[in-house]
Amino acid sequence: MRFLASLLTTAPLLLLRLASAQLPQKDGSTVVFGTSGTYPRAVRLADNSLLGTYTLADSTNQSLVTVRSTDNGASWAPLGTVVTNISAIHELGNSYVHQLPDGKVLCAFRNHDLGNGRDADPTYYRITVCLSEDLGETWRYLSTPAQMPGGPDGVWEPFLQNALDGSLQLYYSKETGSGGQDSILRRSTDGGKTWSAEQTFTGQDTNARDGMLGVARTAANSASKVAIFESGDANGHFTVHTMRTADDDASWDSRGLVYENETASAGAPQIIRVGSRMVASFGTNEDGGVWPQGAMKVMVSTDQGKTWASKTTVHVLPAMWAGLLALDDKSFLALYETGGTSYAQKMTFP
Ligand SMILES: *[C@@H]1O[C@H](CO)[C@@H](O)[C@H](O)[C@H]1NC(C)=O
Ligand SMILES: *[C@@H]1O[C@H](CO)[C@@H](O)[C@H](O)[C@H]1NC(C)=O
Ligand SMILES: *[C@@H]1O[C@H](CO)[C@@H](O)[C@H](O)[C@H]1NC(C)=O
Repeated sequence: MRFLASLLTTAPLLLLRLASAQLPQKDGSTVVFGTSGTYPRAVRLADNSLLGTYTLADSTNQSLVTVRSTDNGASWAPLGTVVTNISAIHELGNSYVHQLPDGKVLCAFRNHDLGNGRDADPTYYRITVCLSEDLGETWRYLSTPAQMPGGPDGVWEPFLQNALDGSLQLYYSKETGSGGQDSILRRSTDGGKTWSAEQTFTGQDTNARDGMLGVARTAANSASKVAIFESGDANGHFTVHTMRTADDDASWDSRGLVYENETASAGAPQIIRVGSRMVASFGTNEDGGVWPQGAMKVMVSTDQGKTWASKTTVHVLPAMWAGLLALDDKSFLALYETGGTSYAQKMTFP
């Protein structure tokens, strides 16, 4: 009994110490990533600068713009405009930038006609890709990998990655009728000009709303990857899940769970690898807020994304549509919007 009692007092302390060793800490102050805008995303370019993008709104237009950092995310400056249109008649959003092995930069985004106005379903849906040959400053149209007629079902939230075989992988979410949504993959072997047929890799066996994808390799240049996405439980709450591939997207295994709270929602996730750890982010209203408003939280995996712990709040309510960018083997940027401005917060593991 005595042995048991002492074990009971020391074990929780030990567990607490182990857990806190995994908690990323805020490192320096929060910096402005982009004014008047939301859905911040950023990647590292081959020249070591950081290229970011977000949706900027002014009194008449929505624009997908780029920003740049040459000091590893400590400051950001406006760089260019990918596309702009009048927000009353057109919907632009979910921009994601990506550099090809040849140095050209792509931006994929949702690009929907609003022929019946902002409050009605779009009258035409597209995922569009634009190309920049000057590292994100000027842009021209390249391709439309996905498009579909208007109505309740559309295509959303593209994400791009280079495959190990030199091709390009595009992921996005596609609504499939009666409230369902699937995760889709398409490939390009000509730098994003033409695209393969769609391959559905999550959601085909459920009517849940699988969406808002992010994908990360479990080690540098590994064919093993984890895709993260939101889905829903039976009570209508959003939940955060993963799918794994061991062969660079040729095949996928069954769903894993990152986080659920049976009385609140967690969604809009992203995932990165930070050294030997994987970091997942999501928004959640478990501490307050009317979904999809919530706080930005991150969780950490030390087993290549199989199990998740160390839930940490990066920013309390409201922190929306967050993104992540690994800086080195110990630190990363958490990107989120609060109050109409997008911010970057450096986080470092002790
Ligand atoms: C708004 O978008 C329209 C259509 O693309 C464009 O002609 C116009 O210059 C844009 N206005 C602003 C202020 O960006
Ligand atoms: C602006 O939106 C309208 C209506 O959806 C569309 O017809 C037009 O092509 C768009 N212009 C640009 C520059 O994308
Ligand atoms: C789950 O959400 C509820 C609010 O609905 C909250 O009170 C509770 O703390 C959350 N659970 C965790 C583990 O954060």
